[in-house]
Amino acid sequence: MRDFISLADLSPRQWNQLLHLSREVKSRPSNFRRMIPGKSIVLIFEKPSLRTRLTFELGIQQLGGDAVYLDYQEANLGEREALSDVAKNLERWFDCLVARTFSHQVLIQLSEYAGCSVINALTDEEHPCQALADVFTLMEKWSNVEGRTLAYIGDGNNVCASLVHAAALSGMCFTAVTPRSRQPYAGWEEDFRKLSTNARATCHWSDSPDGIRGADAVYTDTWVSMGQEGEASERLAEFRPYQVTPELMARTGKDSFFMHCLPAHRNQEVTDAVIDAPYSLVFEQAENRLHVQKALLMWLLAPKEVDRYLHLEKWAAWK
Ligand code: CP
Ligand code: NVA
Repeated sequence: MRDFISLADLSPRQWNQLLHLSREVKSRPSNFRRMIPGKSIVLIFEKPSLRTRLTFELGIQQLGGDAVYLDYQEANLGEREALSDVAKNLERWFDCLVARTFSHQVLIQLSEYAGCSVINALTDEEHPCQALADVFTLMEKWSNVEGRTLAYIGDGNNVCASLVHAAALSGMCFTAVTPRSRQPYAGWEEDFRKLSTNARATCHWSDSPDGIRGADAVYTDTWVSMGQEGEASERLAEFRPYQVTPELMARTGKDSFFMHCLPAHRNQEVTDAVIDAPYSLVFEQAENRLHVQKALLMWLLAPKEVDRYLHLEKWAAWK
């Protein structure tokens, strides 16, 4: 596999390999210090970032590669020169582009024009690195996530879409709780069924906050994504009934975890009492961005070394 644009492109085997490798990277970081020596990676961000930028930069350093950051003020992709020309320059210098674009189509075009790997660092449609870290975090808690229910409440946009794919690939059940006008993308239920590795796993949509009943984990994201600031007042009013409070968490009827990709807007989509609660996983999710992205970079840029590592590991387990 050359690119990492959408989790919907992964096979269950590839998904499990990435999760397994992530666990190895987290528990034995020193085994992976020189996995991508001489590999150059550019981080191109059209919008701000704390977690994604820093975890990629740090992860690349820890793996022995070189990272260069292209600021979002300078990354006006396709404006100063044609996108195809930008891509054809970048491929001459870099082995991989980690790109955060407003438009998902721009990211796809970059991957078509550039003859090197492209990683989706968030578009208007998907956030696959985030969902990889999220399921990894749940696996650390439960070991087996199959059959567990992840409920997403709020805006059914980018983060929600990647969670649909991640939950399906992991054999989880998925519930989307959103206003009727903010449902996940058309065709999400069909994608869930296609990707699902568990014949009994279900997916549902509801516009009622009661839809989170039975959820083992409740996930939310901002009500105003980057680029939507002009719609803020209308959105804040529309999503108000979907705020995650201790009372809403109690409606699951279980001791559920709370999750958020961050940045959070405290006391908008989630109250302090929930995000700061012992059942909140938000900083574990953030930490795990580093580990899973290191696994991803190795998997894309050093597949032979990864195969050799996995093979040796199997051999060690047989001994
Ligand atoms: N969750 C996430 O992608 O955070 P940043 O926007 O800070 O990168
Ligand atoms: N939905 C949010 C996610 C940020 C990580 C956004 O697009 O701004």
